[in-house]
Amino acid sequence: PLDQREYLINGELKIWNGNLNPVASPVFLKKGNGYEQKIIGSTPLLTSKESLEALDAAANAYNLGQGLWPTMSVTERIEHIENFLAAMRKKRTEVVKLLMWEIGKTLKDSEKEFDRTCDYIVDTIKAYKDLDRNSAKLVEEQGFMAQIRRVPLGVALCMGPYNYPLNETFTTLFPALIMGNTVVFKPAKYGVLLIRPLLEAFRDSFPPGVINIIYGRGRETVGALMESGKIDVFAFIGTNKGANDLKKLHPKPHRLKSILGLDAKNPAIVLEDADINNAVTECITGSLSFNGQRCTALKIVFVHKSIIDSFIQKFNAEVKKLKPGMPWDSGVGLTPLPEPGKVDYLRNLVEDAKNNGAKVVNEGGGEYLNSFFYPAVLYPVNNKMKIYYEEQFGPVVPIVAFENDDEPINYVVNSNYGQQVSVFGTDSKRVAKYVDAFVNQVGRINLNSQSQRGPDTFPFNGRKDSAEGTLSVADALRVFSIRTLVATKNT
Ligand code: G3H
Repeated sequence: PLDQREYLINGELKIWNGNLNPVASPVFLKKGNGYEQKIIGSTPLLTSKESLEALDAAANAYNLGQGLWPTMSVTERIEHIENFLAAMRKKRTEVVKLLMWEIGKTLKDSEKEFDRTCDYIVDTIKAYKDLDRNSAKLVEEQGFMAQIRRVPLGVALCMGPYNYPLNETFTTLFPALIMGNTVVFKPAKYGVLLIRPLLEAFRDSFPPGVINIIYGRGRETVGALMESGKIDVFAFIGTNKGANDLKKLHPKPHRLKSILGLDAKNPAIVLEDADINNAVTECITGSLSFNGQRCTALKIVFVHKSIIDSFIQKFNAEVKKLKPGMPWDSGVGLTPLPEPGKVDYLRNLVEDAKNNGAKVVNEGGGEYLNSFFYPAVLYPVNNKMKIYYEEQFGPVVPIVAFENDDEPINYVVNSNYGQQVSVFGTDSKRVAKYVDAFVNQVGRINLNSQSQRGPDTFPFNGRKDSAEGTLSVADALRVFSIRTLVATKNT
């Protein structure tokens, strides 16, 4: 087991002598006639005292905008980031291994998460150079000569979710750092050990206090940071509940900038003239890749009544091909779920749907074993069932048959969420009607393809309760900074 005692404050890897928080792995190994699940390590159970020390270190490094980091030249800040990236690349094998053990992500997807995160940092550096070039330009307007400078916001708190514990946190962390903010970073609850191999790289690549990494229970450690009122930016990707519980602790909400990626219930709408094979393929990966544990996953599928039988038959055939296994097995499509209690939660959602008239239409649907849940495809689903509205974040696929366009359109328009929607169809006029109906409802409309974040240079955002602020490479630089105007009046 990896018993970690180190945490990073003010450029120093401190050693924690207090209690540790055990990390259980969702993957299980055969043992005799049963199975064995392992505690694979532990992390420091820090208290509010240490988290406030981390905050002080970040606040001192920022020093009200006068610190070394926020005043450093663009070229120098980039050098620090590049040093980190070079050191991070050397830790690929270790981090990938921990991604598999901690969150059950397949080898292929774990490697992809690692590589994509490195690419994101490279793209961030490039976008930063472009932004800096543009900021240097003088603007002449109505008798003024002006320069607009992009400046940092202050101390950022960065937190991310368990499903992308590396990628989702680093896509806020690095834009924050490169713009000159200083950071307190608390790794995700699951997918926490995988930051350990990078601690030395963080320590060695940045001046003291620029990046501080803490561990422990959220309410105690992050709660103290929020209550201090000294956090300027709250970058959080996770649940609405998590974000709201923490945000409300800040005594001066008007001084806190939030950058949030939250819950979503992305629908797919399959029209009667859709290329059905493509729709099935996209809906399978859209709803079931990484066991449906993606904020961007398709979480409800509306299919036109005239093609419902054929859609379900083809969909089920593809579900059957998904091979369950351990993350390191080759060709594996379904893996164990990291969240304790998740299997029971999904089972209850399925039971609720069954009690309200749905059938589990695929063979073996909903069976479970330890932290494993075989995909349940539910049909016919209606608005009396919890699964119609609730974000399952797991391998349950609710299918609704619709007859006219009103049901799927009203579903999106009336939803509390607004991250993405996918429309499958070939009649361009009909598809355009859907695009017009959704353009003010969601952050992204996918035509004939699944919902997803990538390419990561695309804007990643959402409407209503799904997001606040836009993350992409270039947008993220903007959200972690503000424009200060230096205006000279022509005389
Ligand atoms: O969970 C949200 C992730 O940002 C999803 O990214 O669409 O590439 O899986 P993805």
